[in-house]
Amino acid sequence: MPLKESEIAARIKEEHERIKGEMKKIRTMTQAHVSREGFAKWRLDLLWLLRDFKTGLQRHFDLEEEGGFMSEVVRIAPHNLDVVKKLETEHRQMVIDLDGILEDLKNLEEKDDLKLDKIRARVGEFFALIESHEAEEGDLLESTYLQDEGMAD
Ligand SMILES: [Fe+2]
Ligand SMILES: [Fe+2]
Repeated sequence: MPLKESEIAARIKEEHERIKGEMKKIRTMTQAHVSREGFAKWRLDLLWLLRDFKTGLQRHFDLEEEGGFMSEVVRIAPHNLDVVKKLETEHRQMVIDLDGILEDLKNLEEKDDLKLDKIRARVGEFFALIESHEAEEGDLLESTYLQDEGMAD
């Protein structure tokens, strides 16, 4: 049985908040000063944090793509099909970006400031994409479910 609309909207909003919190944690950890001695532990902790973040992100995409949100957006406003397609493409892109960051981190076997700065920059770009993506979805969520409630009268 499909999830109820109000339930989907609430869950997606809840997850957007959760993802924001996780990004804050990752950002703090990524930007922290790392000593040569503390590097191995820092790297492993960050790897695990990013791995968990990836799983959470993919589950979030599952909810958005398979939980009925995307299809509802198109059903109510068919002109949104292009936006939905773009959002789905961004989901794929985010996983590719995150895999790239994980790969870079795995290849960094000892502290190297230049490479670390590159990783920090990649994380910054990755988060910027997530933020603009979620903001666009937030707007779509509002317009879709508000419009549907209006139509039910
Ligand atoms: Fe999304
Ligand atoms: Fe989202």
